[in-house]
Amino acid sequence: MTEDAPASRPSRRPTLVVGAGFLGARVAARQAADAAHPVLATTRSGHWSGPSDPPPGVTLQRLNIIEDSDDVIQRTVSEVGAAVICVATGGHQDREQLYIAGARRVVASLNGNECRRVVYVSSTSALADRDGPVDELATAWPTSARGRVQREAEQAVQQAAQAHGIPCLVLRLGGLYGPGRGIGRIYRQRRPDAMPGDGWQATNLIHVEDAATAVLAALAAPSEVEGIVHVCDDDHRPRRALYERAALCRGRPPPRWEQPQPVNQAPRGKIVENNKLKRLLGVQLAFPCHVVELD
Ligand SMILES: NC(=O)c1ccc[n+]([C@@H]2O[C@H](COP(=O)([O-])OP(=O)(O)OC[C@H]3O[C@@H](n4cnc5c(N)ncnc54)[C@H](OP(=O)(O)O)[C@@H]3O)[C@@H](O)[C@H]2O)c1
Repeated sequence: MTEDAPASRPSRRPTLVVGAGFLGARVAARQAADAAHPVLATTRSGHWSGPSDPPPGVTLQRLNIIEDSDDVIQRTVSEVGAAVICVATGGHQDREQLYIAGARRVVASLNGNECRRVVYVSSTSALADRDGPVDELATAWPTSARGRVQREAEQAVQQAAQAHGIPCLVLRLGGLYGPGRGIGRIYRQRRPDAMPGDGWQATNLIHVEDAATAVLAALAAPSEVEGIVHVCDDDHRPRRALYERAALCRGRPPPRWEQPQPVNQAPRGKIVENNKLKRLLGVQLAFPCHVVELD
């Protein structure tokens, strides 16, 4: 943002991206470049996760939404015109503290008069386990502790945003893959002995660039668009088929499984539908089928 830009114009207030990691860094860069919009990106460490420095238009700041005081969070976020929250624990932080309490603190610190949109990045783990298609109307809660925390976080963010009168969209993402997090790694990291089970489970994945497109579409959505949107590939081929393709791409033999492939049986597990993503947010997937990235 230039110094003489009129700060009172909401459209020129920076977009906040809390958690500029694998996904968030792309969202920040594309919001700054494609939408020519200033971005305030934060990470816990204060380091940019991309290959170089933050691109033009992106200001990077350190922010810890668990440990920093309410004052620090308030000072950081109170001037923004829209907010994206896409933090992840990295495996060593308390899930409830980060996803529920931390996200709620951020939204509670936003300025309801200036902030026109909250986008909370959640996970398909917030959905109950079931076999077959599942859309955004599904109400059942997951049984896993991990999934229940995500579901509670969604509600906490929605309630905090509503209390401030800020439109809120929750994006439930499938497993993220893309450059630097290739599906091919799954094959490379497999054990030398047979894989457990039969691998006949539906996959729910999303390429990181398509996930970023979904976040940008959510940011640009009219204020009356609220609720939950699933962000998943069209492709739900079972894990077994995915591993086989990854192996093929590497010129390796397909992995062995402990159990044979079921005959005439649909894959087990949920198939997370993405119709609303296309219909409501107008997102066209660049990678509707899984791409076997080799890195
Ligand atoms: N990865 C998946 O397969 C997957 C699947 C479904 C949904 N999602 C969701 O997608 C989003 C992005 O995931 P990702 O893989 O891009 O995550 P990531 O690469 O691990 O990045 C996480 C970001 O959160 C920041 N962060 C962590 N703890 C924080 C704290 N206490 N306070 C403030 N910032 C903190 C990190 O900063 P530092 O790097 O400095 O620690 C980093 O910028 C998350 O909301 C995640 O739940 C991911």
